[in-house]
Amino acid sequence: MLFKQQALLRQKLFVLGSLAIGSLLYLVARVGSLDRLQPLCPIDGRFGPRGQDEIPLRALQFKRGLLHEFRKGNATKEQIRLHNLVQQLPKAIIIGVRKGGTRALLEMLNLHPAVVKASQEIHFFDNDENYAKGIEWYRKKMPFSYPHQITIEKSPAYFITEEVPERIYKMNSSIKLLIIVREPTTRAISDYTQVLEGKERKNKTYYKFEKLAIDPNTCEVNTKYKAVRTSIYTKHLERWLKYFPIEQFHIVDGDRLITEPLPELQLVEKFLNLPPRISQYNLYFNATRGFYCLRFNIVFNKCLAGSKGRIHPEVDTSVITKLHKFFHPFNQKFYQITGRTFNWP
Ligand code: A3P
Repeated sequence: MLFKQQALLRQKLFVLGSLAIGSLLYLVARVGSLDRLQPLCPIDGRFGPRGQDEIPLRALQFKRGLLHEFRKGNATKEQIRLHNLVQQLPKAIIIGVRKGGTRALLEMLNLHPAVVKASQEIHFFDNDENYAKGIEWYRKKMPFSYPHQITIEKSPAYFITEEVPERIYKMNSSIKLLIIVREPTTRAISDYTQVLEGKERKNKTYYKFEKLAIDPNTCEVNTKYKAVRTSIYTKHLERWLKYFPIEQFHIVDGDRLITEPLPELQLVEKFLNLPPRISQYNLYFNATRGFYCLRFNIVFNKCLAGSKGRIHPEVDTSVITKLHKFFHPFNQKFYQITGRTFNWP
């Protein structure tokens, strides 16, 4: 009898304990997300003084919850009107470079409460068919946001497409432009790896990187190979500079974004005139993935898809050396123009 009573008591204590731990975890999660939701400071001085435009923390959090629903496309017209939601043209665009870490940069910036990302690559400015649909079509592709937030989109093809600088200039001549770069040879191999994987998925064969990167007739670097051309950053940037002053660009170090993302993100916050809100808490290293992943709060975190961070094929060292030598003068010019120096060979 006594044994039975003790067992019952133990059971009750277990249930009460679980409830207490559950509540505690819930509270910590709430506090974690509240911490991220401090009222926002001005971007480009568009807001009034602190207090005037502030939304009380609870309301803001409630709104962010709703915003998440809206981003998923569940917004009714009434909800949009009630919460003053808008689809805004981007204030900043990640224009490239393909395989530079554009997705990681966009997702990490989206940790900032004042930033709303366009999840898909929209390809408005580089695709003639899309461009012909007009600016309203583009705006309608943007996620819902509060008027004080900024929308950011990324389409890495913009950087290398001839017509894009002029088209973006016509939309907004003072837009902020982000370019994330990696050591050019590594980027070219990453580019190749992505194409190779696509071929393999379709059971197709493909050339070795060496064969594409080196012209067999001259034994020189094959500048007709797109993966090589894309890595000549200075050539592309020079086209952009015909429309935008260098101050409107910010160069992100894609190699450092992999190993040490926070300082790179803090530089972007500064460039975008955003109050510093992304912290080390939002980024944690996942040893299994071998990359930093994102932590929104204690309950919600995510790593990038497996297609980011592929294993590159081994490339002949003489080809690597040739590419390093080839890119060297272009890199020097790139440092000179941008004022940002990298330890590239
Ligand atoms: P690799 O696949 O060559 O490693 P993009 O998004 O522009 O296609 O760039 C993809 C690259 O982003 C990947 O190239 C990867 O190295 C890099 N990257 C940077 N930060 C990352 C992160 N936190 N998680 C996964 N990949 C990241």
